[in-house]
Amino acid sequence: MKLLHIDASALGNHSVSRGLTQAIVAELTRTEPSYAVSYRDLAVEPVGHWSPVADASSPAAILGQALLEEFLAADTVVIGAPMYNFGVPSQLKAWIDHIVVAGKTFRYTAEGPEGLAKGKRVIVASSRGGVYSNGPATAMDFQENYLRAVLGFIGITDIEFVRAEGIAMGDEHKAKALESAHATIGSMGRRAA
Ligand SMILES: Cc1cc2nc3c(=O)[nH]c(=O)nc-3n(C[C@H](O)[C@H](O)[C@H](O)COP(=O)(O)O)c2cc1C
Repeated sequence: MKLLHIDASALGNHSVSRGLTQAIVAELTRTEPSYAVSYRDLAVEPVGHWSPVADASSPAAILGQALLEEFLAADTVVIGAPMYNFGVPSQLKAWIDHIVVAGKTFRYTAEGPEGLAKGKRVIVASSRGGVYSNGPATAMDFQENYLRAVLGFIGITDIEFVRAEGIAMGDEHKAKALESAHATIGSMGRRAA
């Protein structure tokens, strides 16, 4: 069993989403010790923007191929996804641009698009300063909604969000958001056990 762990927050040790992905991976590996974990820190080692590569032996082409193979090989993918300006960090978007590949993770048929990256479990640790799950800002959520759409497009139907929102709305709100996220994580591994 392979687990791919992705972080994208630029806030290092202060990051909420990093804390959540760490707890998720710890819980999954506790209940499923046979997991082989690979880790990508997209903030510390950015993968660069996708661009067409003429030379398959160039460093950019080799990295792009490695990112795609690593994603395809994973049974479970844990993604740390902070909200930046209503969407995902550009570091995470750059990684997505490398793994959404025609003929590899999706294809078009006469009936429309078909996702090819089927059978994976994806868990997204979502952190955001405000509240978007209800209330007036719901329509401005281009982070979780985008991830659900793009991952669905490539065939992922098993997607869970561990959400800590309202992080910037005071200490009490933040503490409650973290408590609720960690409670969700606590029951997460049982499914894989
Ligand atoms: C560059 C940047 C942009 C942000 N944009 C938003 C935003 O549009 N909406 C929001 O609610 N919070 C926004 N925030 C707050 C973060 O979503 C929040 O601090 C979250 O905890 C970040 O995840 P992290 O702690 O894992 O880095 C932004 C933070 C940064 C650094």
